[in-house]
Amino acid sequence: MSSSQDDFLQREFPMSAADYEFLRTTANRETGIELADSKREMVYSRMVRRIRALRLSSFAAYCRFLEQNKETELTHFINAITTNLTSFFREGHHFDALRNVIFPELVKKNAASRSVRLWSAGCSTGEEPYSLAITLAESGLFQGWDAKILATDIDSNVLAQASSGEYIRERIQGLPVDIQQRYFTRTDRLEVARVDPRVSAYISFRQLNLLNNWPVTGLFDVIFCRNVVIYFSKDTQRRLFDRFAQQMTPNGYLCIGHSETLHGLSERFESLGRTIYRKRM
Ligand SMILES: C[S@@+](CC[C@H](N)C(=O)[O-])C[C@H]1O[C@@H](n2cnc3c(N)ncnc32)[C@H](O)[C@@H]1O
Repeated sequence: MSSSQDDFLQREFPMSAADYEFLRTTANRETGIELADSKREMVYSRMVRRIRALRLSSFAAYCRFLEQNKETELTHFINAITTNLTSFFREGHHFDALRNVIFPELVKKNAASRSVRLWSAGCSTGEEPYSLAITLAESGLFQGWDAKILATDIDSNVLAQASSGEYIRERIQGLPVDIQQRYFTRTDRLEVARVDPRVSAYISFRQLNLLNNWPVTGLFDVIFCRNVVIYFSKDTQRRLFDRFAQQMTPNGYLCIGHSETLHGLSERFESLGRTIYRKRM
């Protein structure tokens, strides 16, 4: 046994190699997330809170509990294991591309239907879809259009936060003051701001596991799936990008995260640079 594994056995809540293997396999089967050996510490600290809350004494006991209570416990396990880091207008060049290139193009392309569909796949606590909605509103191009944003995530906790539309003021402090004033309102708690209903009206939040069936209808003009597939195996990524292509309009746009790529994974998109891709006809 390696000394680091030994270290996990000596802790307040012992975690054996077999316990870690069980959690790692379960996470991969249920979410696609791959947990390397180096993630042991992260898994320990995330799961220990849950183990305490359940008043269990070891990871072995938790693994048994999870096995015997899949229906109810799997949600807690998944919520604990996902990484939800996000922010408003993260990777700002994607929003610049929407404003300067993609939206003006869509106004012409969809002039007959006057409808536009965006999908934030892996939306976490909502900053990404709200940034999309603000960019839509600010463009002023889609007034009177049927403009909709689908925002999905596997994690029910982050979705609850996202649909509340409420953020600690710190989260919006980096935004230009005029954007803060136009799209966020005060609440009765000084430190909390709420997204303006004109913005939230564009968005439908839904729980959706990207690995399973997608109960979505119609094709999307733009898909944002950023900083999600980085945790998936190459095979899972390949299948996912293929499914995205099927769910998009011809010439639709796909934006992925800064450390992700479609290179060697999909022939169905052409790269426009800076992690922006266009679906081939
Ligand atoms: C790091 S966050 C990215 C948030 C946002 N897209 C951004 O770039 O700021 C990754 C999100 O993907 C979600 N996720 C992970 N596996 C998923 C799956 N199989 N299906 C749907 N969402 C998943 C996580 O719950 C998490 O909220």
